Amino acid sequence: MKKINLAIVGATGLVGQTFLKVLEERQFPIDNLYLFASKKSAGKEIHFLGKNYIVEELNEDSFKKDIDIALFSAGGDISKKFSPIAKENNVIVVDNSSAFRMDDDVPLVVPEVNPQDVKKHNGIIANPNCSTIQAVLPLKILDDHFKIKRIVYSTYQAVSGSGLNGIKDLEDGLNGAKNSFYPHQIANNALPHIDVFLDNGYTKEEIKMIEETKKILNNPNLKITATAVRVPVKYSHSESINVEFFNDFKLKEIFDILNNKDGIKLIDDPKSNLYPLASDAKGTDLVYVGRVRRDYSLDFGLNMFVVADNIRKGAATNTVQIAELLIKYNLV
Ligand SMILES: NC(=O)c1ccc[n+]([C@@H]2O[C@H](COP(=O)([O-])OP(=O)(O)OC[C@H]3O[C@@H](n4cnc5c(N)ncnc54)[C@H](OP(=O)(O)O)[C@@H]3O)[C@@H](O)[C@H]2O)c1
Repeated sequence: MKKINLAIVGATGLVGQTFLKVLEERQFPIDNLYLFASKKSAGKEIHFLGKNYIVEELNEDSFKKDIDIALFSAGGDISKKFSPIAKENNVIVVDNSSAFRMDDDVPLVVPEVNPQDVKKHNGIIANPNCSTIQAVLPLKILDDHFKIKRIVYSTYQAVSGSGLNGIKDLEDGLNGAKNSFYPHQIANNALPHIDVFLDNGYTKEEIKMIEETKKILNNPNLKITATAVRVPVKYSHSESINVEFFNDFKLKEIFDILNNKDGIKLIDDPKSNLYPLASDAKGTDLVYVGRVRRDYSLDFGLNMFVVADNIRKGAATNTVQIAELLIKYNLV
């Protein structure tokens, strides 16, 4: 298999560090590895697969090296500034930020859902928002069978979704210190506020979930609404998803479909107190689905509870899987 010259932008962050773990676990074929972060981290040593690597400060010349693929996870502003520079140097960017997700020439890919879309790339491929990734795994397969009419998302999102700052704010709060990152204390609270508020009353996170779902399911006419809530959980996002279908279904069919889908683990035995939990999803790459039941307020409605590790499947693992697709389809 071809060995790749790989760069990681944001290598010292929560997602960046998880990239390294996932690359090692999946035995991604690396020839040379370059690690970039801010000036603050330049010179720091990172140990990976028996070798020490020195973190370099990201700058305009970083991509003049012989790099095939760059995994970006240093926030939208860094992606906006440096992805075009990487592209000019023939580096394929797999970007974790929201900077390019809705651009027409940028595929938005979840490998279990729309792997072929990577072939349409124009130098940049976007990794969807963490809360979108876990939702579309069960939704895509259900849409294929029963055609979705409307989706109602309600999320319960972990503080690690805000990176190291979010975790620190929760730990500080639990130790009695004041919040310094979130606008309110996250310890002992559920904040209905993720990312900035827009003029229409929604948060940017809610709109991301709505628009990204339509793009990945390739259906601009889907009716979707969302409420995104930050909760005092360190790792793994939980989501209540209410779906209305155009077509009737039997609950047994839904269980069979979800049970046989790659990347999904059905945990649904409520009488034995078995349902998806953030603590069980932490450190894994699966999307856990449970509390699957009919919504009796609709003709063809379904409720389910969906949980996944936001740093792994919601970010690092999905990004590495996209890089693996580039190799599989001989695009690199
Ligand atoms: N956490 C999630 O669940 C999640 C999920 C999906 C996508 N993402 C995306 O991934 C990004 C990073 O998330 P994270 O959780 O890993 O955040 P994080 O822990 O705060 O890490 C941020 C990373 O960006 C680097 N960085 C900051 N400013 C930089 C600059 N001027 N030049 C180069 N590198 C710079 C940091 O380097 P230093 O250590 O040197 O400051 C660090 O490596 C987010 O902004 C988001 O776009 C996160």
